[in-house]
Amino acid sequence: MTRKILVTSALPYANGPLHLGHMVEYTQTDIWVRYQRLRGNDCIYVCADDAHGTPIMLRAQSEGITPEKLVSRMHREHLQDFTAFGISFDTYHSTHSPENFALSQEIYRRLRNQEHIVVREIEQAYDPVAGIFLPDRFIRGTCPSCGASDQYGDNCEACGATYSPTDLLNPVSAVSGAVPERRPAEHYFFRLSDFSDFLKEWIHGGALQPEMANKLDEWFQTGLSDWDISRDAPYFGIPVPDAPGKYFYVWLDALPGYMAATRNWCDTHNASFDDYWGPDAGAEVYHFIGKDIIYFHALFWPAMLQGAGFRLPTGIFAHGFMTVNGSKMSKSRGTSITAVQYLQHLEPEFLRYYFASKLNSRVEDIDLSLEDFFQKGNGDLVGKIVNLAARAAGFIHKHFAGQLAQSLGEDAPLYRSLSEQRGKIATAYESREYGRAIREILSIADQANAYVDAKAPWLLAKDAGQRAALHQVCTVTLNCFRLLVTLLSPVVPQLAERSMAFLQSTLDWNALETPLLGHTIQVYEHLLQRMEKTAVEALVQIPAVSQTDLMGETRIPEPAAEPGISIDEFSRVDLRIARILSAEAVEGADKLLRLQLDIGENRPRTVFAGIKKSYIPEDLAGRLTVMVANLSPRKLRFGISEGMVLAASGPEGGPFLLAPDSGAQPGMKVG
Ligand code: MSP
Ligand code: ZN
Repeated sequence: MTRKILVTSALPYANGPLHLGHMVEYTQTDIWVRYQRLRGNDCIYVCADDAHGTPIMLRAQSEGITPEKLVSRMHREHLQDFTAFGISFDTYHSTHSPENFALSQEIYRRLRNQEHIVVREIEQAYDPVAGIFLPDRFIRGTCPSCGASDQYGDNCEACGATYSPTDLLNPVSAVSGAVPERRPAEHYFFRLSDFSDFLKEWIHGGALQPEMANKLDEWFQTGLSDWDISRDAPYFGIPVPDAPGKYFYVWLDALPGYMAATRNWCDTHNASFDDYWGPDAGAEVYHFIGKDIIYFHALFWPAMLQGAGFRLPTGIFAHGFMTVNGSKMSKSRGTSITAVQYLQHLEPEFLRYYFASKLNSRVEDIDLSLEDFFQKGNGDLVGKIVNLAARAAGFIHKHFAGQLAQSLGEDAPLYRSLSEQRGKIATAYESREYGRAIREILSIADQANAYVDAKAPWLLAKDAGQRAALHQVCTVTLNCFRLLVTLLSPVVPQLAERSMAFLQSTLDWNALETPLLGHTIQVYEHLLQRMEKTAVEALVQIPAVSQTDLMGETRIPEPAAEPGISIDEFSRVDLRIARILSAEAVEGADKLLRLQLDIGENRPRTVFAGIKKSYIPEDLAGRLTVMVANLSPRKLRFGISEGMVLAASGPEGGPFLLAPDSGAQPGMKVG
């Protein structure tokens, strides 16, 4: 019987690029989805960008663009990366979408009507300069336990202590540098405790991995607290109905984002939304997530669905976190590799294969050991599987006009016994034991290679009297290859695609029953080339994503992307001699001067420069300096800054404005 299945992966935040840690999840999910489709099930895979929240709002501000614009650019970039990695979404939507506004507000209204929403006044950190309430992560200060400076508002990276932002010494806002105030505001709360009994039972009802359910039990010991689901304007999000100036906290609309994406797919495919999400929906629904977001998915989400009268998920599957060469991925340490950086060096198939070989159904962290990655990709995938095709195809074209033999002769039982092992592999895929599936597949590959070694087709080829034997051996070998790529096709879809073209055949689970015989294949061209060691090494040499990807905060400077930049890259910076027409202090900013600069254009440029410490504004008027004239304008709270002036500074002092020798004129190009 065909199963009707809806699968989701967590919705990635729209405030930064995808990295290889993310790809663990999308690969894990995609393999499962492709496996279901390979088995003929009716399986759709939906996802979306998680577009709302403070970090996104601030990042857009710092780029001088609207959040909508940022969100649509990130959506495009994410989708590009996903497509390159072969992630086969049926729809990739956004939480900033009409469907999601409607669904999130509808869920909220239903919860409110059932009296699961309460309003309370709470105090919160407020940044008086930026004019926003500050999430914990945007407060920085000195750790109360160990004294390390520049730590987050909720935990210390130096000593691991956790605390509340009010305990932090010398707290400052990471947004403006201002000292945060405490301000009261009304907040809306979802009464999670109304669902305690229901949840206690539900988490042990089979939808969760046992270790997850046990972990969640701890939460019930202290009792479930109400969940703060509102934020005050300015906030980039969905308005709380009947509550002017209040927006849903990003997670409240992120979870319904799964439904919004489904609705979008249903509307464009003439399908019924209720079949998936209605209270009596017949479809199975599975969420793949990382272990860091279990609470949201296994407590808040089922409570929201139950309270609002929708169906509950059939399964929630959490995976562990990826580490690189044994340590935690860290943007500031440079071990965070973006999807784009990976693709510059290597084919996605190797990473997908590697992840598959490491994944199982438990919530275990998985390590990307580059040595092991290199070994598995080249040694196993190319060496044992792809090579089988290469070993046999040449003879088929040289001696048999590209045509396979009419029968497998006395080797038919060998093929049958190998192909009958697919049942075990099916079970492994279905239960997300991909590592086991790969081991079983490799064991088939080992048997196939042993067969080729024993039959030695290269020797048979030397003897014109052995043509029929040669034909048979090559036909058996190529059928083993077809079996192997079919079994692996959920893992390596691009290799599967190329193999289909080569074999001139679809890769079909049920068709494995009967071998390909008397069939014409294409000339063998490389289906997958071995990785170069240098390409693998280059992965970790490239440092991480830029500073602005750190949810808007700036920290340790990243090393340069490459050891040097080319002259072309340098000449993209338009440096100009500028005359300072006027300089004045900026109210509310301790470090800034507002400069009017003449660079020979028809109007002066306004630039905000952090040089107040070193200069009396009036002394600057008339001086020449150097400016970056083609820096994208940045919108600050005080106005738009249309460039940057160059100044030196170091522990010894500064900033010191650069100045040209006499004779230089405003507008002259520097370089
Ligand atoms: N936006 C939320 C999810 C909302 S779902 C309604 C979010 N986004 S995220 O971009 O931070 O993460 C997306 C997924 O990637 C999460 O499931 C997360 O666990 C996973 N991973 C992020 N970094 C990871 C690793 N280093 N390793 C493995 N998975 C990781 O959370
Ligand atoms: Zn500390």
